[in-house]
Amino acid sequence: MKSVGYYNGEIAPLEELKVSALDRGFYFGDGVYDVAFIHNRKPVALDDHLDRFYNSCRLVNINIEQSRGEMTKILSSLVDHADPEIGDFILYFQMTRGVAPRNHVFPENAKPSLFAYITPKTIGDQSKRISLITKEDIRFYMCNVKTICLMPNVIASEEAKEKGCYEAILHRGDVLTEGSHTAIALIKDGALVFPPLSNLLLPSITRKQLIAVCEENSIPVVLREIKLDEVWTADEVLSMSTTSVILAADEIDGKKVGGKAPELVERMQKLYFEKYGLN
Ligand code: PDD
Repeated sequence: MKSVGYYNGEIAPLEELKVSALDRGFYFGDGVYDVAFIHNRKPVALDDHLDRFYNSCRLVNINIEQSRGEMTKILSSLVDHADPEIGDFILYFQMTRGVAPRNHVFPENAKPSLFAYITPKTIGDQSKRISLITKEDIRFYMCNVKTICLMPNVIASEEAKEKGCYEAILHRGDVLTEGSHTAIALIKDGALVFPPLSNLLLPSITRKQLIAVCEENSIPVVLREIKLDEVWTADEVLSMSTTSVILAADEIDGKKVGGKAPELVERMQKLYFEKYGLN
């Protein structure tokens, strides 16, 4: 199998996996998810992703039945069913509130449903510059929960794609939050600048890890509100995620940006790849 799927105990080729139409994830988007990377057939930083996954579940009162140990075993074992020649995969996993007739209130006896899959993926060229658009952030106020309800993110991603761009930078009024599917940071005067964590953005694992890498290597890190306008004068604008890692932009809304600290971008990428064994 190239792509291996799992749903409530059943394992099958992803394309053949069947899920219940009464899964609340299907008709309410009533669930949360996480995405990790598998490199050389081993999940990378799975503990960080599981911390966030269990926290997302806790924040929306989904009671995970599986212990951390059981969850680690289930997710790590998917690779055993995959084509032995493939080493690198995306690992997607989601927990919904379970299978029950449609009713807004929580079902009384439903067991949460675990869906997971792995599919081949390699990390792209980190030296390639990306173009971005800006877009008003119209999401709800629980963006710290990695919910499967991604309609505004999906619309923003599509708009970016239609404009020939990789990602949309979201902003609430004049304040930058994050990307539609990535975290956004600036490099200014030699420092890495992120907005502080809040309910308006996802606690990105790549962000957490890059902050740790910078701190270990005496690269200053600043957490503060970022005004959208700052993207025009920043030394670099970065977009990052587990599956894309750290990419620098050279264009936003058709205007040139960044390109003033390419050595620092390269250094961060190199240190990050070394620390997480991604080479
Ligand atoms: N997206 N912000 C949003 C809105 C995201 O969807 C993601 C990740 C990130 C970066 O988070 P992390 O560093 O933990 O990957 C930030 C994933 C990859 C996805 O939905 O496929």
